[in-house]
Amino acid sequence: LSAGPLAGKHVLVTSGPTHEPIDPVRYIANRSSGAQGTAIAAALSALGASVTFVTGPADVRPPAGVNVVAVETAQEMLGAVQVALPADAAIFAAAVADWRVASANASKIKKDTSGSLPSLEFAENPDILAIVSQMVDGRPKLVVGFAAETDDVVAHATAKRDRKGCDWIVANDVSPETGIMGGSENAVVLISSGGAEEWPRMTKDQVARKLAARVAEALT
Ligand code: C5P
Repeated sequence: LSAGPLAGKHVLVTSGPTHEPIDPVRYIANRSSGAQGTAIAAALSALGASVTFVTGPADVRPPAGVNVVAVETAQEMLGAVQVALPADAAIFAAAVADWRVASANASKIKKDTSGSLPSLEFAENPDILAIVSQMVDGRPKLVVGFAAETDDVVAHATAKRDRKGCDWIVANDVSPETGIMGGSENAVVLISSGGAEEWPRMTKDQVARKLAARVAEALT
């Protein structure tokens, strides 16, 4: 039995990239280690939450003590999220591929000896964050999305919050000079109905703990 401010609360976290198959041996992916989502799940669990951790194929191992649901594609991630609901809060930290290959080949695409090249047709993936944010019945009380921006971070993230319908956006500046992409630190702006709050640069673990504390405040 867990104590802590989030005891008795169920929180859903998505994390990692998705892989969209081209054929049985090839895929399209997003660049994501899963580090920030994993740290968030661990921090929520440390505050006593029961955490469902829906993760794509990440580089880092899922935290101990959470309910891990491993998925590969965006469509599988949406299915796992729908099965995991209801939840008191849902944090969407996954880097979901915007497109999948419209019809993945059942067998390996052979290299054509005459040099002709294959072409891929894409289909749009479901926007899991938008779908859950706009649920009419059983929407989690708190829905949090992420935004990786390279310019006009606050303006773009604020527009994204409105478009998706989530409560908060955790926005980070991933322009190359920040060194954030792939690094252990993060500099985020928390966008809510109250405006934009800039957090000092800190480690991804510290971001996770600060966010988990905010989630606890919002749910109690
Ligand atoms: O639109 P964009 O991909 O920038 O939005 C990022 C946010 O939306 C992240 O929280 C991400 O986890 C979520 N997302 C999602 N499903 C998608 C695309 C993004 O849940 N298909």
